[in-house]
Order: sequence, then structure tokens, then C-alpha cells
Amino acid sequence: MNIQQILNDKIKQAMIIAGASDDSEALVRQSGKPQFGDYQANGIMAAAKKMGKNPREFAQSVVDNLALDDLAEKVEIAGAGFINIFLKNDWLSKQATAAQRDEKLGVLTKQNQRVVVDYSAPNVAKEMHVGHLRSTIIGDSIVRVLEFLGNSVIRANHVGDWGTQFGMLIAYLEKMQAENASEMQLADIEEFYRQAKLNYDSDENFAEKSRNYVVKLQSGDAYCLDMWQKLVAITMNQCQQTYDRLNVTLTPNDVMGESLYNPLLPEVVQTLKDKGLAVEDDGAVVVFLDEFKNKDGDPMGVIVQKKDGGYLYTTTDIAAAKYRYETLKADRVVLFTDARQAQHIAQAWLITRKAGLVPDEFGLEHFTFGMMLGKDGKPFKTRTGGTVKLSDLLDEAVMRATAIIDAKNPTLNDDEKSAIIDAIAIGAVKYADLSKNRNTDYVFDWDNMLSFEGNTAPYVQYAYTRIRSIFARADIRQLPVGDIAIGTDKERALIVKLLQFEEVLLQVIKDGLPHLLCQYLFELAGIFSGFYEACPILSADDTTKTSRLLLADFTAKTLKQGLDLLGIKTVEKM
Ligand code: ARG
Repeated sequence: MNIQQILNDKIKQAMIIAGASDDSEALVRQSGKPQFGDYQANGIMAAAKKMGKNPREFAQSVVDNLALDDLAEKVEIAGAGFINIFLKNDWLSKQATAAQRDEKLGVLTKQNQRVVVDYSAPNVAKEMHVGHLRSTIIGDSIVRVLEFLGNSVIRANHVGDWGTQFGMLIAYLEKMQAENASEMQLADIEEFYRQAKLNYDSDENFAEKSRNYVVKLQSGDAYCLDMWQKLVAITMNQCQQTYDRLNVTLTPNDVMGESLYNPLLPEVVQTLKDKGLAVEDDGAVVVFLDEFKNKDGDPMGVIVQKKDGGYLYTTTDIAAAKYRYETLKADRVVLFTDARQAQHIAQAWLITRKAGLVPDEFGLEHFTFGMMLGKDGKPFKTRTGGTVKLSDLLDEAVMRATAIIDAKNPTLNDDEKSAIIDAIAIGAVKYADLSKNRNTDYVFDWDNMLSFEGNTAPYVQYAYTRIRSIFARADIRQLPVGDIAIGTDKERALIVKLLQFEEVLLQVIKDGLPHLLCQYLFELAGIFSGFYEACPILSADDTTKTSRLLLADFTAKTLKQGLDLLGIKTVEKM
């Protein structure tokens, strides 16, 4: 149910009948205040201006041509030419009754794009850091919403699995194997990398061997490839544990690392040369872009192939864009990385487009995000200034959630308790991130995120359990059959909010902004509280009781579905 779209279409139609051009926009939005109705059309003034008409007079002729009888109670012209729409209670009740019964909660949109979502993208033999955390959870919520709305999503985990460092890593793995290293030793990837580097810097034989292995790996040597694969597997096993723990939908099958594009790179560079985009410059192959200036104000040179023949991160991203269009037949690509990669991606995609590797209408969207900061406002670090390991972060979340639950509800049995702690701990960390506009930095604050007050996971999760407990306490196992009706303003407000679920989801995937969904769930939970305080459920007469129970159930299902789209679990009690 997309009320905004329905009204938008109808008003636009009326505008055209009233003489506006076909490309006029009705610009229907949810109204900010009750006195402006439920929705308002903001496009009248601009259209009137274009036609040289008085906006209020034009608004009147639009209203005269508007057929909203079945859904609107009242249509009002306000201010300079806004149209305010007040929806009919009967119509709202009917929509809510149908939506509550629907397994998609009344969400009717059925998109069928093929969308490649490039997210998470950790690097082999390096521990995932907080930047990967943000990419992983923001990306995964967008993936879930895209799928919920009918799209088919290709999860592209663009793992950093190629580069000159692999010579050194292979040499070190070989050394570890010769020393019969245990699984445990290999599991500490960060340490593994450090040791490899140490050997490389201090032992000339080791360095020599490393360089030799790089060359061999690049030329497809079977032994080196096998060792390389082991390194990738060790890293990805670790990452998979984190994904599972985070309730993220990525699997080993979603790995589409940088190495996948290796075979395409020579051809890409050749194409860039053929098109006159890339030129030889001091032995390297470089694309000069007028759109980007270097320090001296000259066109910036982007290297696509080094002097020694090696390719770069940019070259791979150009090839990836081509591959996703040509081979994966995607309609749209969205990519999540921190904002520091904005220029890099902009350049790679500009080159991709200039070379005609993808058509103009092909959607390449880079959704960046800011940094996670400590309470001191500086980039989030451990007390000793190191990068925070994700696994340690999640361990701490569990520890803190355990203390909270122990204090709140000491009577839980062990199984219940561990499920609740897991839901709260992981939910809180994810929600704290997802609920902030990704474009800004945010402060990571344990006390805030685990609070049961405010826009937090525990608050929304708790709102869900409160509704479930209404049913549990009254021992209602089966929902009554009947209709949702509007008796009070509180019920009306709740219904309008519930029917706006789809509008939020569409906005979330359009701009890659999961915080809009968090905000929606937070508001929904608040509106439900207002309803629950004012409207007795179990003591009401039968018809009202049925309606209110259905409304409570509809709210619970929407909260649960909404949290699920954020990758956050719900539990039946807390
Ligand atoms: N592995 C990269 C990093 O850790 C992120 C890759 C993002 N995806 C891409 N297509 N460039 O920074």
C-alpha cells in the first residue's frame, strides 16, 4: 500500500486535465502536521508558475478535477496553493484490515530489478575493522529490503584477495606449515600478517622468495595458487563467523573478490588505450581526467597499469563495473564503502562511462558513510589506540547485555536468556549504526545503544515483546476474526503509520538510507504506546476488542518485519 503514490498519480492526472504539462509533478508528501491533513501536494505552485496562472486558482481547478471520493474525506487548498488531503476513516480501516491479513503486511510493490550490492569487502589476511562493519551491516539491510520488495540481489563481496602482498603471505604460510603451525596460530590473521611483514623486512632470503612468489602467483603457478587459496579460505572462514554472529546474510558463495576480475584487466586497459582515453606516461598507463584537478590545477592522472605491468585497485573497479553490467546483466549496482573512497570510485566509474563500458542509463551508485567515533569525538580505537577488532566489540556487547538482562529479568531460563542477550547485544550494535544517517560520522556509545529508552534496538525490540505479552497474558493463541475499525484518534494515527511501511521501504532502497526505517519503527513503537495507554483492549466490547487486537497484531508484525529487514532479531519476551 503506497498511499503517497496513489495520491500522487491522481493529483498529477488532475493537474494535467487542468492544463499542466505532462511532466508536471504533484510532489505529494506525508504532512508534517495534522491540520495539514494526512498528505499534502506541494507541486501546484511550480506548475502554476510555468503556466502563468494564479496558484490558488490553479489549485482550485485541480481539486475540481480530482476524483478522490472513495479515499478522501476532505481536500483543502491551503497557503500559497498547497493541497491538503484528509483520508477517510472507512477507507483507512478497510486498507488496514486487508494489510493485517496479508503476509507482506500490505506491501504491494513488486520490483524486479537485478541489483548487484557490493558490500562488506574485507581484505585477505587482515582482520575486519570498523569500516567493514559499517559496510557489512548497512549493505545487508539494503539487500534485505531490496529482496523484500521483489528484486533479485547479487551480493558481491569484493574481497581484497589480490596484490603484491601475497608473495610475502605465501612465503610465510609455507614457513608456518613447515613448523607445523596449529589452526589457532593461523586463526590470528592480524598477527599472521604482522609476522609475514616482519620476516619480509628482516630476512633477505624471505624477501627474495616473496618477490619470486608474487611473479609465480601472477603467472598462474599451481603451488602458489593453492597456497593463495588457503589464505583466502582462512580469512573467509573467520569472516563467515562474524557474518553469522552479526546475522548478516552473506555466505561463502557471495565472495567475488578482486581476483575474479584479473582476466579482464588487460582487455580493459587495451580498450582505454584504443579509445584514446589512456596514454603511456613515464612507462605507466594513465587516464587523465579533466573532471578532477591535481594540486597544480591540471587534469588528474589516474594510473590504470603500473610501469612493471601490474594493475591497480581502480583498474579492477572499472572491470567490475563492466562485468556486472555485461556478464551479471545487472540493472543497477550499489556499492558501500566509507567516504574516503568517494574519489577513487568516482574516477573509476567516470572512466567506465567515458569508455562506453556500460550504457548511460546503467545505475552505478556509491553510497558512502562516515566514521565511527569514540566518545572523545576521535576515530573509534581501543584504549591503547589500536584498531578495534569486530569480534572483541561483539564480545563486549554480549557482556554488557548480559549484565542488563540479569538485572532486569533474573527468572529467565538459560536458553531464553542466551537468545535474548544475543538479540539485544547484536541488535544494539547494529541499530546504533543503522539508525544514524550514514552520511555523517557517529559516536559509538555503549550506554546509549543499550538503553531501553530512545531510538535504540532494545526500545523497539521491547515494544514488540510488550505487544506479544498482551496476547500471552490473555492466553490468546488465535487471532479473532473481524475488521479493524477506527474509534479514536489514537487508532487512526496508528493505522496511518502502519500503512506507511511501504513508503518508507521505497525511500530506504532509493537512497540507501536504513536510518529512515529505524526512525519509522521508533515512531511506530511510540504511536503504539500512545494507543495502548488510551485504548483498553481486553476490557473493550467484542467488536472493539477484536479490532484492537488485530491492530496490536499488525503493529507487532510490522515491528518484527521491520527489524528483520535491518537484520535484527526479535524475541518473545525480554
Ligand atoms: N576491500 C576494500 C577495502 O577494504 C573495499 C572494497 C570495496 N568495493 C569496491 N568495489 N571497491 O577498503
